[in-house]
Amino acid sequence: AEDIPVITIDGPTASGKGTLADETAKALGFEVLDSGALYRVTGLAARRAGLDLDNGEAVAAIVPTLKLSFRDGHVFLGDEDVSARLRAEATGLLASQVAVHTPVRQALHELQLSFRRLPGLVADGRDMGTAIFPDAPLKVFLTASAATRAERRYKQLISKGISANIKGLREDLEARDERDKNRSASPLAPAQDALLLDNSALGIEESVTQVLDWWQQRRPF
Ligand code: CDP
Ligand code: CDP
Repeated sequence: AEDIPVITIDGPTASGKGTLADETAKALGFEVLDSGALYRVTGLAARRAGLDLDNGEAVAAIVPTLKLSFRDGHVFLGDEDVSARLRAEATGLLASQVAVHTPVRQALHELQLSFRRLPGLVADGRDMGTAIFPDAPLKVFLTASAATRAERRYKQLISKGISANIKGLREDLEARDERDKNRSASPLAPAQDALLLDNSALGIEESVTQVLDWWQQRRPF
């Protein structure tokens, strides 16, 4: 699989990773891996099963039993379309709780590798460049100020008809960033060879253009 190209996009919550990954993949005709969705689905399933989220072994044990499928950008657990549930901020918090455990990260490792298919993959998350695809020829670390990220998440929720409070959102995202940066298992950090992109003042199109330029320079053929 090492000869299948991968672009990794890691960074904190609401920095624009998912949007950048989707648009870059569309431009290149690549597959996408939204690794956060896997942690979200694991957190949701663990909660529904009534598991203690601090018990990493117990949470990891449910991963192989999940009947997960991905169709047209939607995530299914069995026959249930859980996509909307997964996007909820509360599910993001569940995800970050189960994501601290090494057994959970190991249980999801191979599933993530299986997304590496021709003609290539754009993978977004926290440890795509550091732990899952360390050989990726292009690694992007995407950031934006906390104020910008809270405002983006706020607008995103409001546009879906979900009520939100910008101060609460900022507190939640800063708490999640802290947990992601300070855990010992694959913490949120740029890979040594990552290129930093602060998109606080950049639109989506400009960010995609930057990544495509980098890809022209870095792609291995
Ligand atoms: O995946 P992640 O949580 O990092 O962020 P996202 O869901 O891709 O982006 C969060 C929101 O910010 C979305 O509504 C994007 O459309 C918006 N966004 C933006 O306004 N400007 C950017 N340069 C990037 C994202
Ligand atoms: O969209 P947003 O950036 O808010 O979150 P996400 O990418 O869906 O990830 C949700 C949570 O899952 C994160 O806060 C991390 O704790 C965890 N996660 C992780 O540990 N490793 C990844 N590769 C992706 C997500």
